[in-house]
This record gives sequence, C-alpha cells and structure tokens, in this order.
Amino acid sequence: MNHLNDRVAVVTGGTRGIGKAIVLALAGSGAHVYALYARSRKNAESLEQEARDKGLKITIVRGDLAHEKSYQDVVDRLHDACDHIDILVHSAASGVHRKAMDLSERQLKWTFEINVFAVHRLTCALIGKMRNGSRIIGITSPGGTRVIPSYAAVGATKGAMEALFRHYASELAPDGITVNLVCPGLVMTDAAKALPELEAMLEKTLEYTPSGRLTTPEDVAEVVRFLTTPAASQIVGQNIVIDGGKGLMA
Ligand SMILES: NC(=O)c1ccc[n+]([C@@H]2O[C@H](COP(=O)([O-])OP(=O)(O)OC[C@H]3O[C@@H](n4cnc5c(N)ncnc54)[C@H](OP(=O)(O)O)[C@@H]3O)[C@@H](O)[C@H]2O)c1
Repeated sequence: MNHLNDRVAVVTGGTRGIGKAIVLALAGSGAHVYALYARSRKNAESLEQEARDKGLKITIVRGDLAHEKSYQDVVDRLHDACDHIDILVHSAASGVHRKAMDLSERQLKWTFEINVFAVHRLTCALIGKMRNGSRIIGITSPGGTRVIPSYAAVGATKGAMEALFRHYASELAPDGITVNLVCPGLVMTDAAKALPELEAMLEKTLEYTPSGRLTTPEDVAEVVRFLTTPAASQIVGQNIVIDGGKGLMA
C-alpha cells in the first residue's frame, strides 16, 4: 500500500515503542517521515540503520519538546525542511508515576508540559504547513478516562489531550484536516515496563482481554496507517480503542 507517496509525516516519540512502529508503517506506505525523539540516541541510530536497510525515507530529529530552545530548534528544522506536512502524530509522552495524593504540583506540571502543552505548541507551530486532506493523530490511553494504579499524572494529561483534540477536530474539519485519537490497551514498551505494578497489570490485562493477547505496537501502527487513507476521511474527532476488547469488560 503506497498511498503516502509524496506525503510528509511528523511523528513525535518516533524512535522507539509505539511511535517507532508508526514511523515504519507510514514510511512503508511511501511517506517521508520525520521521526522525533528526545534523548535516546541508541534507538535513533538503530532506526536510522533500519531505514537505510529497508530503503525507507526516515529523517531523525532530536529535541526535547518540553524544553523551550530545543523545541524551537525542532520547529525551525521542520519549517526549513518541509514545504508541507500531511500527517502529524503525537506519540511522545512521559510522566511521573505516583498516586494522586503523593503527586506534587511540580510533578503534575512537568507531566502536562510534555504530554499536553508541547502537543499543543507543536500542533499550532505546524498547522500552517497542513493542507486539505491532512491528518492529526494523538495517542491517548485508557488512563485518560479510567483509573490505572499510580497513573494520576499521565491519566490527567491524557484526559486533557482528549478534550483538546475534540476541539481541534471540530475547528479543523472544515479545512479538510481530520483529527482523531487512538487508544491502545497495555503495550509492552519501555514506558509500560516502567509502570510500578506491571506484573499485576499484565496478569489482569490478559485475564480480561477477550482477544486473549496484548496489543502490539504494530496493531496501533496499522490503525494509524488506516486513518491516513482516503477511506478514513469522514472519521472526525474519534477515539479508536485498540485493546482486544478489554475495555468492554465490567
Ligand atoms: N505502552 C503502553 O502500554 C501505552 C498504552 C496506551 C497509550 N500509550 C501511549 O502511546 C504513546 C507511546 O508510548 P510508548 O509506550 O511507545 O512510549 P515509550 O516507548 O516510552 O516512548 C516514548 C517516546 O517519547 C519520547 N519523549 C519522551 N519525552 C519527550 C520529550 N520531552 N520531548 C520529546 N520526546 C519525548 C521518547 O524519546 P526518547 O526515546 O529520546 O526518550 C520516546 O521516543 C504515549 O503517548 C503513551 O502514553 C502507551
């Protein structure tokens, strides 16, 4: 499927985990993908090598999106490099894992800085490059609407992101730019491995997932890829859950 030939995509958090799978899926469909990351140079180099081996158009861009100067360097680089941006995927996220009552204001603000404010800043900075037919896709989490142990900070940011994206969707649809969210269940990435109660969560997830398996980064990437096709042009402001049915269970 080469429907993204001549298209340009920007994927934050694009060198590992779910973001990396999305980068490979979009580049595999012909897009030139700018894969953003913050610190982990080793993952970036390994993706660069994979792109060379597979002949994919992937450009790696380093920068901490929560740091003013570094963020501006990323935006300047994208502005210089891209005449237009057709797909913007917000996959980068970080945060403090604490119970709500143990969470300081500083920790909550820091988590909002990367998961909400950086998302909004980047969207506003790049929207001028986006044309009719473009797509903005955010990655949210079941923690945006439900309780995951010690996930108060990240969960709050995901809830805020979902509200923000509803407004993006309704404001940008008249210009032919569709905005949607995808919501994976538990995916075994570095972020998931850092969850304080991972073992118990894994066991519960498998027990209550009707499909009988965990969601993979590739499951998520395929849905994102679908959202970039012309067939998805009438999907506006939705939050597509990819969890093997776990969210159905009482
Ligand atoms: N894994 C799950 O179970 C799960 C479930 C539901 C939703 N999600 C969501 O899916 C998305 C991807 O998660 P993941 O599990 O793939 O995460 P991950 O493996 O931890 O990757 C996170 C990515 O975000 C980047 N990042 C973090 N802080 C940044 C900053 N300040 N500036 C720029 N980039 C930054 C990281 O860059 P470096 O590599 O340089 O650190 C990394 O590429 C997130 O939005 C997450 O909330 C994950």
